[in-house]
Amino acid sequence: MKKTILTLTLFTLLMSQAFSQGSLSRSLGNLTTFSREEQRLILNTDFGKAELTVYEAGIIRIRIVKDEFRKDFSYAVVAVPGKAGYTLEETQDRLVVRTEALRLDVSRNPVRFSFYTPDGRMLNADDPAFGTSWIGTEVTTYKQLIDGERFTGLGEKTGNLDRRGSAYDNWNTDNPRYGPNDDPLYVTIPFYIGTHDSLVYGIFMDNSHRSRFNFGASNDRFSSFSADDGEMDYYFMHAPSVAGILKQYTHLTGRMTMPPLWALGYQQCRWSYFPDTEVLNTAQNFRDRRIPLDVIYLDIHHMDAYKIFTWHPDRFSNPAKLLSDLKAMGIHTTLIVDPGIKVEKGYEAYEDGLQKDMFAKYPDGAVYTAQVWPGWCHFPDFTKPAARAWWGEKFRGLVNDGVTGFWNDMNEIASWGNGYTPHLVEFDWEGRKTSYREAKNVYGLLMSKSTYEGTRKLMNDHRPLILTRAGYSGLQRYTALWTGDNQATDEHMMLGCRLVNSIGLSGVAFTGVDVGGFSKDASPALFARWIGIGAFSPFFRSHTHYDTRQAEPWAYGEVVENISRNYISLRYKLLPYLYSNFREAVLSGMPVARSLSIDYTFDNKIYQTEYQNQYLFGPFILVAPVESTRDLVRVYLPEGEWYDLHTGKRLEGNNEIIAEAPLYRLPLYAKGGAVIPMQRSVLSTAENPGSTLFLHVFNGNTVNSFTYYEDDGETYAYENGNNYSRLIRFDPQRREIVLEAAEGNFSSKFSEVELILHGFADGTKLWLDGKNLKLTSHLTDLFNALEPGDPQYLESPHKPLPTIKAEFSLKNSRIVIGWE
Ligand code: NOJ
Repeated sequence: MKKTILTLTLFTLLMSQAFSQGSLSRSLGNLTTFSREEQRLILNTDFGKAELTVYEAGIIRIRIVKDEFRKDFSYAVVAVPGKAGYTLEETQDRLVVRTEALRLDVSRNPVRFSFYTPDGRMLNADDPAFGTSWIGTEVTTYKQLIDGERFTGLGEKTGNLDRRGSAYDNWNTDNPRYGPNDDPLYVTIPFYIGTHDSLVYGIFMDNSHRSRFNFGASNDRFSSFSADDGEMDYYFMHAPSVAGILKQYTHLTGRMTMPPLWALGYQQCRWSYFPDTEVLNTAQNFRDRRIPLDVIYLDIHHMDAYKIFTWHPDRFSNPAKLLSDLKAMGIHTTLIVDPGIKVEKGYEAYEDGLQKDMFAKYPDGAVYTAQVWPGWCHFPDFTKPAARAWWGEKFRGLVNDGVTGFWNDMNEIASWGNGYTPHLVEFDWEGRKTSYREAKNVYGLLMSKSTYEGTRKLMNDHRPLILTRAGYSGLQRYTALWTGDNQATDEHMMLGCRLVNSIGLSGVAFTGVDVGGFSKDASPALFARWIGIGAFSPFFRSHTHYDTRQAEPWAYGEVVENISRNYISLRYKLLPYLYSNFREAVLSGMPVARSLSIDYTFDNKIYQTEYQNQYLFGPFILVAPVESTRDLVRVYLPEGEWYDLHTGKRLEGNNEIIAEAPLYRLPLYAKGGAVIPMQRSVLSTAENPGSTLFLHVFNGNTVNSFTYYEDDGETYAYENGNNYSRLIRFDPQRREIVLEAAEGNFSSKFSEVELILHGFADGTKLWLDGKNLKLTSHLTDLFNALEPGDPQYLESPHKPLPTIKAEFSLKNSRIVIGWE
């Protein structure tokens, strides 16, 4: 056995030398010298150079070039190397770098990198022959493909949850009506997670040129990642769990800030609501029909001849009045903004931008011009700090009119003629100049950054809602992301779940799809089902194309309207839970919609095509998306115990079940031990939800905890301690539910708690701080927004759940509830 390995290694070495000498492709050569500088090792080889940096014990960065390193710079990475200790051992054939969490072996002849756990289990290793190689300027790193290795992440990519056997291209592309297997789409997040043999690692290649990831497509030898030009610059991460890798990746590329609370409500969009009376009419319909709504969108028809930062003079003659009327109804207004500035004499943004030199240009100095909605346009060069500030300031008028949401579209850059922006168009790149080849994939990220920073300032540090279509790693710092122009089909609805989960696995928690589908007409059934799923997605907005049918919840008839009202209202009831989950994303990069591959990484079942769309909404609610055409579906419940939220029935995990799923019943399950804080349903987040927090606890066998979080919901004061958080622990061994003392300077809006117990035996006794608590039986109605007797009440087949409840007041000190 040993002999075969030796012969194979010799063979590969000989081959690699032959291949580096004569073929078109050339790989990193043999080590000649090396030096050590604090966290860094610099390696010189007979063909190329490498630099290793220990960022953290579990994060090592590798840069490889064939000539000279460029000045170190990234739009994605915000972390700097920490001070993690490491040792360096030199042996005859290798250098060995050891940190507390990783071992990196660097073979000398040729230089190849292999990562191990500290106890010697192989995580990931270069292909011995190819390692990192170049063909012309194209640079590729080849990694050995391991038996049973799975690949997840890579952001907004179609295909399966496990990406093994597929390859993807990163080249931000306006892909209208994309098909369920199309690639590339709008966003580049060159980061993936690899798992095998109970081990987890992550790789982030920070290079914004067009790039390719191959997870063993058309070959069984290697996975690889490559970029058309620039450095091979990747971060290798190792942690005990996928959650740990996400924490590391978002440590590197940054985490989101708290979104405004209102941006977690339901949002209604179409291309386009106009004129102003139509907007008000739509808003009023929501209120009259008692369907909650927090945001209404104005698409491109709100502008004068599609000129950004303008209002159409007739359609929106008094925008400030319209927006304040909407505000009075508890509704925020979000406007679309495209990067294309119309070339038109007298148009302020054009004249000013031209005069101040804010636009991208050809190498001969002529301003680049392409056609989009307004006709011929120039495009701000967001890689130029002055242009970012200039753009941010341009929102002043809109902010004064009362706009609080900014929807960044067409920023791939999209233009007529398939968006073929010539590669020679130049960008400032912080004074260092680059071409469109490198700038394209970051354009959307930097447009969002400019919009976020500008509007945040103009809004006096109130939180704007920023939404983008295109972006690059790190976009989560500034913006939410939606998945562009999907279609009104069941296939797309299911794909949307995978996209949202994959984007969540790639550091972006605030994400969603066009609920109802953008192109084509949704059937009433599809819309109803999609609203149910949308209510369990981090960003919840319906949107549709201008040539589709009317698409508000009431446009599909009374039954769909009722289903929509019920699910949207449930979303509002869940806001305390949801908002707390966003806090978790802010603190640790954990997504809100969590692919099952986060918590059940090594359970093969979750990757099966029939189960791969399932996810956890927050830590405790399992969502099993199902097509609108089916009313029975197979659901996989991973290990543990689960409660059917529709029947209250307790179910054993590690089990495949058949669930009933008529349209009004999206299969939803709460995890045993779950602690889910809820509130009364409201018509908008501007409405007071009352003083009672409904704390739902689901009995279970294992200890579980949840950090409940609140703040003012609209400013950044929470960053300076003006917040309220408390750990709530469910402990079945001690038979205790503990609300640890509240932390932070903010006072909760709730003063009373209604504790609602699911799955506890009849005759359960409860006491609080030693005193008996009165328990009463209680019917919990999660799915009916209205009560019989309400004018819009329509009987729904949902039956309330039998539960027991106790009430107590919410004090800030520790609260211990025992049961027997
Ligand atoms: C393309 C966007 O993807 C879509 O959502 C929007 O409605 C149209 N542009 C028009 O602005």
